Amino acid sequence: MLAVHFDKPGGPENLYLKEVPKPSPREGEVLLKVAASALNRADLLQRQGQYDAPPGASSILGLEASGYVAELGPGCQGHWKPGDSAMALLPGGGQAQYVTVPEGLLMPIPVGLTLTQAAAIPEAWLTAFQLLHFSGNVQAGDSVLIHAGSSGVGTAAIQLTRMAGAIPLVTAGSQHKLQMAEKLGAAAGFNYKEDDFSEATLKFTRGAGVNLILDCIGGSYWEKNVNCLALDGHWVLYGLMGGATISGPLLWKLLFKRGSLITTLLRPRDKKYKQMLVKAFTEQVLPHFSTEDPQRLLPVLDRVYPITEIQEAHVYMETNRNVGKIVLNLSQ
Ligand SMILES: NC(=O)c1ccc[n+]([C@@H]2O[C@H](COP(=O)([O-])OP(=O)(O)OC[C@H]3O[C@@H](n4cnc5c(N)ncnc54)[C@H](OP(=O)(O)O)[C@@H]3O)[C@@H](O)[C@H]2O)c1
Repeated sequence: MLAVHFDKPGGPENLYLKEVPKPSPREGEVLLKVAASALNRADLLQRQGQYDAPPGASSILGLEASGYVAELGPGCQGHWKPGDSAMALLPGGGQAQYVTVPEGLLMPIPVGLTLTQAAAIPEAWLTAFQLLHFSGNVQAGDSVLIHAGSSGVGTAAIQLTRMAGAIPLVTAGSQHKLQMAEKLGAAAGFNYKEDDFSEATLKFTRGAGVNLILDCIGGSYWEKNVNCLALDGHWVLYGLMGGATISGPLLWKLLFKRGSLITTLLRPRDKKYKQMLVKAFTEQVLPHFSTEDPQRLLPVLDRVYPITEIQEAHVYMETNRNVGKIVLNLSQ
């Protein structure tokens, strides 16, 4: 089969399609014929040699895929049969013509969505769901500050925050991105390149601050984050796009807010945890993507690239141009 490959860590120019052995499903696994996958920041980091696949996972890029069940491994429980369409959360391997998946990490395609749209769901939406409900313990009425509001994860988090009855506020780096976030349900958006988002957040919350911050920026935002965190607020760190180093009285400031700093990574978690997350998401969230739902959720797709243009797709993400997801089409 063909798979996205690179021989040495580096820039997008190192990526190419390579003929590699087709995987075989092991105990409890399903072989998925991939129709589409999507790009994530983790792919960029892995390509640069900064984020290896977890032990036991495929080293091929791709944390999510949609497609058709091609084969069942031994011991499958009968939830899936060959020919079923499905989407999957993966620790790697999605950007190839076939990928093996534990059957508990497959999800049905929501009614009314195409395989291309579905490929944009697993990684970003399960991450956002986990951040809000497992790490952040969001409650109805909470105010939630979502950084990188127009990222793949951000566009999902805005909609899930609304679904939880909470109030999403966002930061982003352009007016266009803020407008898109507001269309998805953000109550307010702050351009971090022009304004102090901390002051703007305090103004919006009438001095109270936000109950929850979803933070994929880290270092460069720490002081503003803690300044606009409400008393007893939760600050969930899940990425370090703004660096990993801080200097200053973080602990002092956090202590006087009685704040909780929580960190989380989804990819390296074990199968049991991911299956629990997929089950909860399938039951509680997937039905809301269906066309009949008045509060319909929407995977936001920026661009669809044929897998042959994998280098261009990486450049597009790396230059921060996407609003929502970049999907990779493997169906040709
Ligand atoms: N912990 C986990 O389990 C987990 C899972 C999935 C993703 N993540 C993390 O979530 C984040 C978003 O991932 P994604 O794939 O959804 O990203 P994405 O769609 O590529 O969006 C990322 C956006 O972040 C903004 N950004 C980049 N560098 C920035 C900086 N230094 N300061 C402020 N904003 C910056 C840019 O938008 P602007 O134009 O607005 O600046 C960029 O378009 C990444 O950090 C990723 O590693 C973590």
